[in-house]
Amino acid sequence: MPTPGRLLRTAAVIGAVPLAVQAVLLWTGEVGWRVGLSASVAVAAMSGALAWFWLENLRRMTVALRAAAEDGTGFSAPFVTPRLPAVEDVEEALTRLARSLQSRAELVGRLRAADEAIVEALPDPLIVLAEDGAPLRANRAARAIFGLATPYPAGGDLGALLRHPAMAAALDRALAERTPQAADIHLPVPIERELAVQVITMERPMADGGRVILVLNDRTDVRAVERMRADFVANASHELRSPLASLIGFIETLRGPAADDEEARERFLEIMATQSARMQALIDDLLSLSRIELSEHQAPTGQADIAALLRAEVAALEPLAKGTTLAVEAPESLSMKGVDATQLSQVMRNLLDNALRHGKPRGLVRATLARVEGGARLPARPGVLLCVQDDGAGIPREHIPRLTERFYRVDAGRARATGGTGLGLAIVKHIVIRHRGQLTIESEPGQGAAFKVWLPGE
Ligand SMILES: Nc1ncnc2c1ncn2[C@@H]1O[C@H](COP(=O)(O)OP(=O)(O)OP(=O)(O)O)[C@@H](O)[C@H]1O
Ligand SMILES: [Mg+2]
Repeated sequence: MPTPGRLLRTAAVIGAVPLAVQAVLLWTGEVGWRVGLSASVAVAAMSGALAWFWLENLRRMTVALRAAAEDGTGFSAPFVTPRLPAVEDVEEALTRLARSLQSRAELVGRLRAADEAIVEALPDPLIVLAEDGAPLRANRAARAIFGLATPYPAGGDLGALLRHPAMAAALDRALAERTPQAADIHLPVPIERELAVQVITMERPMADGGRVILVLNDRTDVRAVERMRADFVANASHELRSPLASLIGFIETLRGPAADDEEARERFLEIMATQSARMQALIDDLLSLSRIELSEHQAPTGQADIAALLRAEVAALEPLAKGTTLAVEAPESLSMKGVDATQLSQVMRNLLDNALRHGKPRGLVRATLARVEGGARLPARPGVLLCVQDDGAGIPREHIPRLTERFYRVDAGRARATGGTGLGLAIVKHIVIRHRGQLTIESEPGQGAAFKVWLPGE
C-alpha cells in the first residue's frame, strides 16, 4: 500500500491545476459556490484515486523489477486493475526483460555446472586457492587424497599441504613471478604421501575468486616401487654377500693356516658346499621369480591333473620330513585347464617345504585339494582350493600381510639357519597372480598356519 504522505503529495500534484482553475472561477464568480465546491470535492477525490492507482502500479512494478534483478524470476504478483494507460506496455517489456534475464541466469548456471563437472571428473587431484592462499575448491580426486567431505574445504584439512615449506615457497614464487612452479612434497600424516605439485596462477581471478590452481600428482605408489626396487637389490646383494664372505674366508684358511690339516679341510669343504648350495638356491629363486614376473600378464594355457602333481610333490618331500607326517586329502584326479603345471608344482613344493621347516618338529602337515563353489573369503566363482596346514608355532598377526614380500622372514636368523632364502612365498604369490587366483594366509599364534591357494576353473 502507498504511504499516506506519498499519496497526499501525488494527489496534490495531480489535482493542483484543476483545483487552482476552479478557485479562480469561484473567485471571479464565473461559477456558483455550490457547483464550484462540489466540483472541487470531486476533483480532490478523483486526484486521490488516481494517485492511489498510480502509486500502486509503480509499487508493483518496483516489486517485480526487484524480483527480476535478484533471482531472474519475473512477475509473480498480478498488476492492479484498472491499470494506468501505457503501463501495460511497460509491464510487457518488463516481463520480457525478466524472462531474458532468467534464461541468461540459467545459461550461466549451466556453464558453471559444466565447468564444475569437468573439474570434478578430472583424474588429477586439483585444488583452487584464493589470492591469499585460502583453499576455495577441491575436486573429487583431491578430496579422496585428503579425506575431505565437501568440495569447498574450510582449510583445516588441507593445512598440512598448504603449510608445507616447499609448497608455501612455490606458491610465493608463482604469485610473484606469474609463472607456473613445481614442488615435490612429502606428507607424513595422516597417510604418508609423496606429491608432485604444480602451482599455476591465473591472469585474472576466476568467478569464485580463485587465483591459483594446484595440480597434484600422487607419486606415492611410484616412489614405493622405486624404493622396493632399491631395497630388492640391496637385499639380494646382502643375501649373497654373507655366504660369499664365508667362502672367501674358508678359501684363505685352507690356503694358509689349515693347508695341511686334513680334518679341518674336510669340515671346511663341507661348510663351503653348504654355502655354495645356498647361493645357488638363492640365484635359482631370483631367476624363477623374474621369469614368473615376466610372464605374469600372460595367463597360463596348459592342462594338468593337479591332484597327481600334489601327490608327486608330497612323495618327493617325504624323505626330508624328519618324522613329520605328511597327509594328503585329494580326489583321485583333478584335471584343470589354463594352468602351468611346473609353476603349480613349485607353489605346492614351497608351501609344503615351509610347513615342514616352520611347522612343529615331528608334527602333522595336511595338504588338501578340493573343488569349491565360492565361500567365505573366497571369490564367488567355481574354483579349486589347495590348503597346506601345519601345527607349528604359527605366525604373529602383524607379520602375515608382509610374508609375501621378497626376503621377508618372521625370524630372519632362524629362517636363514634352516636354509630359507625368503623368496618362497614371493614366488607363490606371483604364480597365483599369474593364474588369476588368490592366496590367503590364516594363522593364530600357537595354532599353526594354513596357506590357501584358490585357482579359478571348473
Ligand atoms: N608354515 C609356516 N609357519 C610359520 N611361518 C611360516 C610358514 N611359512 C612361512 N613362514 C614364515 O614366512 C617367511 C617367508 O617364507 P618364505 O617361504 O618366503 O621364505 P623362507 O621359507 O624363509 O625361504 P624359502 O625361500 O627357502 O622358502 C619364513 O621365513 C617364515 O618366517
Ligand atoms: Mg619357504
